[in-house]
Amino acid sequence: MVKQHFVVIGNPIAHSKSPEIHQHFAKQVGLDINYSKQYCPNDTSSFEAVVTAFFHGGGIGANVTVPFKQMAFELCQEQGGLSKHALAAGAVNTLMLRQGRLFGDNTDGQGLVNHLQALNWPLEQAQIAIIGAGGAARGIVLPLLEAGAASITIANRTVSKAQQLIDDLQSGHERLAKASLYTKAINELNGEYNLIINATSIGLSEDTLPLSKTLQTTYAYDMMYGRKLPFLQHFAKLGATTSDGFGMLVGQAALSFERWTGHRVDSQAAIHILQR
Ligand code: ATR
Repeated sequence: MVKQHFVVIGNPIAHSKSPEIHQHFAKQVGLDINYSKQYCPNDTSSFEAVVTAFFHGGGIGANVTVPFKQMAFELCQEQGGLSKHALAAGAVNTLMLRQGRLFGDNTDGQGLVNHLQALNWPLEQAQIAIIGAGGAARGIVLPLLEAGAASITIANRTVSKAQQLIDDLQSGHERLAKASLYTKAINELNGEYNLIINATSIGLSEDTLPLSKTLQTTYAYDMMYGRKLPFLQHFAKLGATTSDGFGMLVGQAALSFERWTGHRVDSQAAIHILQR
């Protein structure tokens, strides 16, 4: 049987764990696939050339990572179609062909929700705060509301960006127009939340978030993964249950794999094996 070809396009790309994750899924369901990493210069015409060459060459599916998720969105807008979640996120992480045309989806937010549910963190009626108002934050708002969140407060260093994000989301989507969405400066976020999610790009940098001393949460999630994350250490000390974002990475990959191949995979098993 001819191997199916998949790729992840990014810049930088060397660190990507996607090939390992997708090969693990392929093994789970007995498929023999080729999944490679593709570096791309950071400009629109290079990105378009890489995507076009990949699909012309018979490629089945492409993942798109930093900094190309918005470019992928625009390319699909021009040339093909977009899923509801890609439209709400304003970004695409999963590309495929549909009736010969480019189609873009976004599985990041649902990947997060699936991981939270696998952890048994309750989302129904949850009061959630998201810190950060960039692309990462934008992609998770609709899936969290669909999973039952009662309200979402977006706290950002630049409050006007959080407000802009909410205005964009509410003007473009009926479900979001009726949702309880609020903005705050990070240091003004206080009181008690059920879940706080770090969606900033602060990650492992020396900077720390100016978190209020009165801010409490039952669950804290950092969309980054890797070494000890200061955000999670802060809330763990206050007694919160915490998780980094490795499960989200696996979760979004599982959904991409399912879209491309039609096979459902076991994300939890993948998380346990790959985290070792
Ligand atoms: P991404 O696509 O990963 O979300 P982005 O669109 O560049 O990346 O957004 C980065 C987010 O991290 C923003 O919310 C940014 O805050 P500003 O909008 O005020 O720039 C936030 N961020 C980055 N570094 C930060 C820091 N040192 N302190 C607080 N917030 C930070």
